Amino acid sequence: MKELVTIGDLEFEIFINSEQIEQRVAELADDICLDFKDKNPLLIVILNGAFVFAADLVRNFDFACEVYFIKLSSYKGLDSTGDIIINKLEKIDVAKRDVIIVEDIIDTGTTMSKYIPLLQKDNPSSISLASLLLKRSAHKYPVKVKYGGFDIPDKFVVGYGLDYNGHGRNLKHIYQLKK
Ligand code: IMP
Ligand code: MG
Repeated sequence: MKELVTIGDLEFEIFINSEQIEQRVAELADDICLDFKDKNPLLIVILNGAFVFAADLVRNFDFACEVYFIKLSSYKGLDSTGDIIINKLEKIDVAKRDVIIVEDIIDTGTTMSKYIPLLQKDNPSSISLASLLLKRSAHKYPVKVKYGGFDIPDKFVVGYGLDYNGHGRNLKHIYQLKK
């Protein structure tokens, strides 16, 4: 296992290894199974960061589900309105469906606190949020996470889908910015 990785100008150290991730993802899948196994839930995976988590999560499911993808970016204008840009790749009909949003990390909570009310307008039966990582101390907006993987400190992380300037998504383990 690589203890240290350098991405661009920054050095990162190992934080959560792939075995720990694998175990926690399986536990989250079990929790989701208990709640949704007979409901054919509709998963909405938030690109880009959540693609690795989602791939592992759904392969732990032994029940029917549907998987869709959207890309969300937060608009960081000069006055930082916190608005989000939604890039839909296809039409997703969520009406009367049990929706599970799959995210990599909830940091400030801006993205989810903007997106969930918009999704609500399309009349799903329910909306639940699964996020592998939670930076609770960084939360600025309240976001209810039903399936949370790891509570982590407010430090930048990469790996397992998460990037630094576009790099590091392919790393098996999760790395944290070195002190
Ligand atoms: P939020 O809107 O502040 O909750 O953050 C949303 C997005 O910012 C996440 O879905 C990630 O894509 C990205 N993000 C937040 N913290 C990190 C981090 O530590 N590493 C990589 N990406 C992050
Ligand atoms: Mg993300």
